[in-house]
Formats: sequence, structure tokens, C-alpha cells
Amino acid sequence: MGRTIRIFDTTLRDGEQSPGCSMNLNEKIEVARQLEAMKVDIIEAGFAIASPGDAAAIAAIADTVKESTVCSLARCVEQDIDAAYNAIKRAESARIHVFLATSPVHMEYKLKMKPDEVIERIAYNVAYAKKYMSDIEFSAEDSTRSDLDFLCRAFETAIKAGATTLNIPDTVGYMAPEEFASRVRYIREHTPGIENVVLSCHCHNDLGMAVANSLAGVEAGIDQIECTINGIGERAGNASMEECVMALRVRKDYYNVDCNLDTKQIYRASRMIQTITGVPVAPTKPIIGANAFAHESGIHQHGVLANKQTYEIMTPESVGIPQNAIVLGKHSGRHAFEDRLMTLGYHLDKEKLDKAFAKFKLLADKKKVVKDRDLEALVGAVPVSGGERYTLDNFVINSGNSITATAVIRVKHGDETIERVAASDGPINAAFRAINKIVGRDIVLEDYSLKAMTEGEDAQGEAIVKISVDGSDMVTGRGVAVDIIEASIKAYINGINKFFLE
Ligand code: KIV
Ligand code: ZN
Repeated sequence: MGRTIRIFDTTLRDGEQSPGCSMNLNEKIEVARQLEAMKVDIIEAGFAIASPGDAAAIAAIADTVKESTVCSLARCVEQDIDAAYNAIKRAESARIHVFLATSPVHMEYKLKMKPDEVIERIAYNVAYAKKYMSDIEFSAEDSTRSDLDFLCRAFETAIKAGATTLNIPDTVGYMAPEEFASRVRYIREHTPGIENVVLSCHCHNDLGMAVANSLAGVEAGIDQIECTINGIGERAGNASMEECVMALRVRKDYYNVDCNLDTKQIYRASRMIQTITGVPVAPTKPIIGANAFAHESGIHQHGVLANKQTYEIMTPESVGIPQNAIVLGKHSGRHAFEDRLMTLGYHLDKEKLDKAFAKFKLLADKKKVVKDRDLEALVGAVPVSGGERYTLDNFVINSGNSITATAVIRVKHGDETIERVAASDGPINAAFRAINKIVGRDIVLEDYSLKAMTEGEDAQGEAIVKISVDGSDMVTGRGVAVDIIEASIKAYINGINKFFLE
């Protein structure tokens, strides 16, 4: 039996750093719960010093998660390390992750430090973090553009100061797989004490090689892969968790290693991240893209019908893609509804289940059959408790190609009902303007998209909006309805509610 590779998920830190991927507190907790359910070994929950909101989210995750190690990032600065410790100190299992750049370009232009100063900083700060806890990771940022002997010196220093995991980030996604593997081998051969620590990689995808580099790293002796759901992350993203893990599973015969991940949770995690961030994956995305298991050509279909193994190297079930065995309709009861949700991996508390069931009944009145994708959309659209400052009560739209569109929107706001009218050149813009009048804030629509959730004439539309309120960071809102204008209005209101919740 080969080694067990640790899966270190940084969706909530590196992933969340990518534009348009920010999440609020409740969403981060939901994601952390899902990561725990899928048996991720280490969850990097954020960068505590970055903002009080980040620190609070990490602390909430530390209080929630019991099975995975919870980690916070910190620069080699005392205040960062203190903030990281304070955020994770209540976790059942905690890790501080300190980093400092070691490449000439970063040392000279970003840090403005001489190599010897960098070594001193590493020694001091790793030891400083070690006073707080035993589990310390050190990352040499921009490792792959660092001088190899200097990198080994930096790692040796970190080991002596108490680091238990050493991470080799390909920060700018510059490596080719064999080149990365030979670096890993060099580091293993030239760093005294390395046999006693866990060796990790953290590959970015600028040249589309993050997964290939991570896997080449594993072949060369890497014990931990840092990755994100759907590969989200800075610029072109990080190594995608689902691709790394499925490569190790499907090609176990070749890699001869395993990991603890429950791959049946992959699809659900991927959908969750797409829903929360509003950033969809391409249909051709390996493992979880809409076409990943679709066989279009006649020859392929014929082969798959005769024997799935002709064109399928893994099954959709193995990554948790729901097979539409049961469809629900307006006569389905609460039990069948709850049962189907559980099969899809959703365990809702009573309050959320009640809301979801009420929505299901409304939907079942409009659609003959409610499919798994509809259920996912519906559950994803159940608002977070306490998060609904405004709810849509009623709307009337008047639009056509020879008239100015007008919208009358009525919302509930606590005990009040507020109604406003607005006009514009299109119905959705008119509706958004009416809502702006109700809310009375400067709301800017930064991005808007609309797509059908399922095939067929009665498909539900999913609208995603990205808005900023009074110059705030972007907030993602999502709305689902059979009527696309209703979906858009709900998405806009959802975004506004999320802004106020934060
Ligand atoms: O890409 C990178 O170098 C990082 C480090 C902080 C690990 O994200
Ligand atoms: Zn990174």
C-alpha cells in the first residue's frame, strides 16, 4: 500500500481571493462544513489579518469544524501570527501557515530585503508561531523562481525553527511538470531534516499546468496537495481539487498513492461553489463540467450502451453526480422530498426544510416534473436565516419593442410594504431601478447573467447578479424562478440582502 496524500483545501483563502469569488460568513461556514463532509485533511479558512470579517469567519469555522485541521495564513510578521492564532485557537486541530518569498525578484522589489534578512525573518517568525502550537506550515512564496540552494537553506531554517510542513508554491504558475518534479527531488536531497516533515505543493494555473505539476510533485515525493474546488484562485486559479483527487483515484495503479477524500461529495461541493460565487465552470471542465460524462457522437453512444468502460474511465456516481432515478411532482409528499434531498447530500434543518418544501410545492404547480437540478436550485435559493431584509411581494412589468418599459415592484421590509415604479429601456433595468428607489442606496450592477437550469420549455431560469452598494466590494446575488424577470428581481434583492447581512 502506497502513501496517503493529504488534501489541503484553500478555496476559502486563495480561492476567495479571486475576483468575484468573495463569500459572506454564512457561506464560508457552509463551504467549510462541506469540506469537512468530504474529508478534506486541512481547511485553509482565510487570512486572519486581512480584515476583521476574515478573522471572524475563520473563528466561526474553527468552532464548527471537528474532523479537519483548520488553518489560517500569516505573513512572517508577529501581528499576522497573533491574528492567525486568535482566529483558530478554539479549533479541535489547528495550524498556522506562515509564508515569505524567497525568489530574487520578490526579495528585491517586494520585500526590499537581502537574502540573509529573509533567512532571519523565517527563523524568527516560524519560532514565534511555534510558541502557539505544534502544527506549523512554512511556504517559500515564489519557490519555483527561487535559487534552489537558497530555497533549501530557507527550508532548513524553517525546519530548525519548528515547521512541520514545508510548502513549495509555484506562485506564478511557471513550471513544467518534469521541471517541478526535479525541483522537488533536489529539495528532498539537499535539505537536512526534510525526512521528518511533510512536503507540500501549491501550484497555480497560469499556463494550465497546475494539476499536472501537482501530480508530478506527488511522483517526486510530495505528501500534501494544496488545491481548491473548481480550481478557483488568484488569476488563472489553483490546482483543481476534483481533478487532482480523481487522477489519484482513477490512476491508483500508476501513482500508487491514496487520499482520504470522499469523492462522492465532489459534485455537491462544486455546485455549492458555483452557486455561492456565481462563477460557473466550463461545460468541458474535467470531472464536473456539464459535458464531462455526456456522450454525443453515435459511435461513442453505441460503445457506452454496449459497455460503459468503452468511453468512461470513471462513473458519474463516483463523483456524486445525481442520476435522475426519481422525479418529483405536485403529488409528492414531504417525506419523498426530504428523502431525495438527503440522497443528493442535503441535510437541512427544520426551518430550511419547511421553506424549501413550500417553494417546492409552488414550483411543482408550475412544472410537471421537478428534477434533481431543480431541487438543487431550490435548496441553493433558500435564503440564509436572518438574511432577508427585503422580500419580493409582487411585481408588474409592462414592456414591448415600441414602448418604454415600466416596472412596479412591491417588497416587504419588516412590517412595511413598499412599492415603487420606475421606467427604463428594458424590463429588467426598470425593475432594478424601482428596487433602487425602495432601498435608497447607490446600487451599481457590475455583472448580470441568466441561464436555464434544466432543459425543456418549463425550465427554471437562474439569474446571477454582481452588485456593489455605496461603493462596497462586489456582492453576488442569485435568484431562481420559472419566470426569468422574477429570477432577475430575486437575484437583485438577494444581493442587496447579502450586502446588509455583512
Ligand atoms: O501562491 C502562493 O504562493 C500562495 C502562498 C501564500 C502559499 O498562495
Ligand atoms: Zn497561491
